Amino acid sequence: MATSSGSPVAVIACLVFFSFIAASTANFYQDFDITWGDGRGKIVNNGEVLTLSLDKASGSGFQSKNEYLYGKIDMQLKLVPGNSAGTVTAYYLSSKGSNWDEIDFEFLGNLSGDPYILHTNVFSQGKGNREQQFYLWFDPTADFHTYSILWNPQRIVFSADGTPIREFKNMESMGVPFPKNQPMRIYSSLWNADDWATRGGLVKTDWSQAPFTASYRNFNANACTWSNGASSCKSDNPSSANSWLSQELDTTSQERLRWVQKNYMIYNYCSDTKRFPQGLPSECNAS
Ligand SMILES: *[C@@H]1O[C@H](CO)[C@@H](O)[C@H](O)[C@H]1NC(C)=O
Repeated sequence: MATSSGSPVAVIACLVFFSFIAASTANFYQDFDITWGDGRGKIVNNGEVLTLSLDKASGSGFQSKNEYLYGKIDMQLKLVPGNSAGTVTAYYLSSKGSNWDEIDFEFLGNLSGDPYILHTNVFSQGKGNREQQFYLWFDPTADFHTYSILWNPQRIVFSADGTPIREFKNMESMGVPFPKNQPMRIYSSLWNADDWATRGGLVKTDWSQAPFTASYRNFNANACTWSNGASSCKSDNPSSANSWLSQELDTTSQERLRWVQKNYMIYNYCSDTKRFPQGLPSECNAS
């Protein structure tokens, strides 16, 4: 590049090259703010890793700088290892206001060797009550695993390591509100919830094990960013444009989803007839 440093073509090539590098390296300084926890949340390794911790005095949390209106958002998490009973690591998208939309992953800790529960929920216009809970087919504390939310106008898909665990379809045609016009931020927090989290609150947090720490890395958002009332959409892969905006589950993914739901789902609001004596929510009768 030194020999042609005056050429505009070389300068543009350089800019394209460097913006490509910038886009492909997750940087927590660039994308997130630690919002609470008085030093218990930290960005380390030059922005490559974020850690949250919890002790008896406080938990901690962070949020994205951007607001998103649709996206395919991936994050790798490594959950609190060992005796994590009583702790909850929440990772979710949420809008603001009393009619908010929300897409939730919550990881409920457990005694050493006992399984975490992955709790999921979808709120639209302030109404949730759509819980599904899962065990995982791997140990989420031994290593980093990728948790993804695909949110486009037709569906919301929750995935773990690329395997879909839950799909919430747009069923507005049946009168079920779908999150579609309130931009959401990404939030995460680690806190104490030993009144309900582990075996329904029977197992309490063992503070002698504190501080409890969860780690995050490799954030990636192919998403539409909301700013000043306008949305701008991006894809990290120029050749596939914004394919995520119309992505659906192919046959293999649908099989994987059924495998998870058959073998790892431990609670489904759509099967909880006792809870809804007036009849199951209408989206439950759809598919
Ligand atoms: C913790 O382990 C117990 C015993 O295996 C299990 O019943 C429970 O679902 C597990 N997870 C949580 C978060 O309570």
